[in-house]
Amino acid sequence: MGVLLLPFLTCLSFNYGDSENVIDIHPNAKISKWADIEDSVRGSRIVIAAFACIDSFVKIKPAGGTGDVVIGEGSVVNSGCVLYTGNGIQIGKDVAIASNCTFAPVNHAYQDKKRRICEQGFIPSKGGIVIEDDVWIGANCVILDGAILRKGCVIGAGSVVRSEVPAYSVNVGNPLRLVEWRK
Ligand SMILES: CC(C)(COP(=O)(O)OP(=O)(O)OC[C@H]1O[C@@H](n2cnc3c(N)ncnc32)[C@H](O)[C@@H]1OP(=O)(O)O)[C@@H](O)C(=O)NCCC(=O)NCCS
Repeated sequence: MGVLLLPFLTCLSFNYGDSENVIDIHPNAKISKWADIEDSVRGSRIVIAAFACIDSFVKIKPAGGTGDVVIGEGSVVNSGCVLYTGNGIQIGKDVAIASNCTFAPVNHAYQDKKRRICEQGFIPSKGGIVIEDDVWIGANCVILDGAILRKGCVIGAGSVVRSEVPAYSVNVGNPLRLVEWRK
């Protein structure tokens, strides 16, 4: 199928719920015609649930592994975000992701200095990226392999996340620090 530039339609569907499909978009999901969702040649699935919204200039790219990308009901991915499939990205319901965030659930192997990095493949998975329901991720964040964002947490603009973040906590910066709790 190659690269898909999807029209901003609410009636678009790639046979949602059919496990045979590589790109699986619910008919009630809203996908900008300027979003670029690339088809996997290695079997990664990209699943977008009902009422999810994928804004313009979002790129979802199968690369660095055969994980799936699942975007849950009512979740919003704003302009300029890039999601690599890598070891997989699971996004729950009603997650708000601000502009220009990068989801990189994979790391190159690079230890052997006698070989080029591009020849060394990837290091073992740290579990991919898991984002539970009701999370807010501010603009310009980078989310790395092994990140688990527990229910209801907040990540401040410009943060880097690489491990587990407690439910309902507010976290900022790089290195990430916990500054507050939602009450
Ligand atoms: C995380 C955030 C929600 C916290 O807001 P807040 O509750 O008003 O927090 P405060 O401004 O009181 O800051 C609390 C502490 O965190 C620090 N901090 C807040 N946001 C930060 C950020 N993005 N990066 C680094 N440090 C940050 C403050 O310096 C302060 O530190 P201190 O107590 O040591 O002085 C907010 O700062 C933020 O980053 N929002 C994201 C906005 C965004 O991306 N919007 C996109 C459209 S949806």
